[in-house]
Amino acid sequence: VKRIGIMLDWELMQKGIAGKRSYERLDYYVEIGKELGLEPVFFHPRHVKWKARKVLGHFWSGRRLIPRLVSIPQVIHNRVLSGQKPVRATIKKLSKHYQVYNGIVVRDKLRVHRLLWENPILRPFLPRTDRFTPETVERFLGKHGVFYVKPSIGSVGDGVLRVERQGETYRLISHKLRKRVRKHAVRKELRHWVANRRFLVQQGISLATYEDKTFDIRVSVQKNGNHVWCVSGMVAKVANAHNKLSNLARGGTAVPLNVVLSRLFNQEMVQQIRYKLQYTAIEIAKQYAKHFPSLADLGMDMGIDQRGNPFLIEVNVRDQRYSFYEAGEIELFRMTYRHPLEYGKSLMTKAKNKTT
Ligand SMILES: Nc1ncnc2c1ncn2[C@@H]1O[C@H](COP(=O)(O)OP(=O)(O)O)[C@@H](O)[C@H]1O
Ligand SMILES: [Mg+2]
Repeated sequence: VKRIGIMLDWELMQKGIAGKRSYERLDYYVEIGKELGLEPVFFHPRHVKWKARKVLGHFWSGRRLIPRLVSIPQVIHNRVLSGQKPVRATIKKLSKHYQVYNGIVVRDKLRVHRLLWENPILRPFLPRTDRFTPETVERFLGKHGVFYVKPSIGSVGDGVLRVERQGETYRLISHKLRKRVRKHAVRKELRHWVANRRFLVQQGISLATYEDKTFDIRVSVQKNGNHVWCVSGMVAKVANAHNKLSNLARGGTAVPLNVVLSRLFNQEMVQQIRYKLQYTAIEIAKQYAKHFPSLADLGMDMGIDQRGNPFLIEVNVRDQRYSFYEAGEIELFRMTYRHPLEYGKSLMTKAKNKTT
């Protein structure tokens, strides 16, 4: 049995140590690891003892995490979300000496958009996106009936504002704010929303609806044991009618993708749409990974329009995977844990082959 490092956020480690549940299924890492001949060692970057080349690893007892000092594992799956400088620095340093996958990458949505835009094949699937400036706001007000203003680095729908033109007024919708403003007031309103922060403007996709609510699709795109990008699962996230956000943390609900699609399209179309979503998601992953080769585990938010054409909304580099569980898609949920472990295992054989 070989050890594989699973690097988690500090709070998740604390929960595990206390035997409390979190969205990370530590038992899955252990069970699937066993099937693959791997023993997961959970730790946070702060647990690394550089001088001794050791780590205060934590092992799952079936109930909680138990600490034990061990050698730093050769292969490490990074699941840390935190952007704190010292944490990032440790992960970078680890990446130099060990095989860290899903390491430190550019997450800024605007920069990700730009590096994807480089590939002409992907452009039809990318909503128009630009930095938030007085000029770009002007352009988007003139050009798009619906657009979004959102933080360049954000999550769980925080700061996401939908702007809808309705005749001579605009409707502004977010999880905090709902109001209608006149045309001349909208610029000031948006300026206040953004303040001095780094935001972007993005064309609104005219999303297909399910039970009168828009939905998007979480696509888990991961590298498998053959080092090939594959789709481990797809699930629909139906938006909250009030704030129009599909994030589970904002009142969205997860529903099996086929339930949603077969309500809207015939079987042949459903197959075609699924295929297009997978193909597009994999091409996006490849382009992203051209710039950041350590990527191996992505959770994409994709949308489809009324005709079933796919669009990218956002790429998450720390897929919480939880929407699969919420939708009752346990097989897919497990797959999102299995593929990254298979990939990690294949990195070990590679390392061994190099030295022998
Ligand atoms: N361009 C867009 N077109 C349509 N819906 C969008 C768009 N951008 C965001 N949304 C909606 O808002 C949600 C949150 O936006 P997202 O970019 O995923 O931010 P976060 O990182 O906070 O999850 C999306 O899941 C989707 O439901
Ligand atoms: Mg999102």
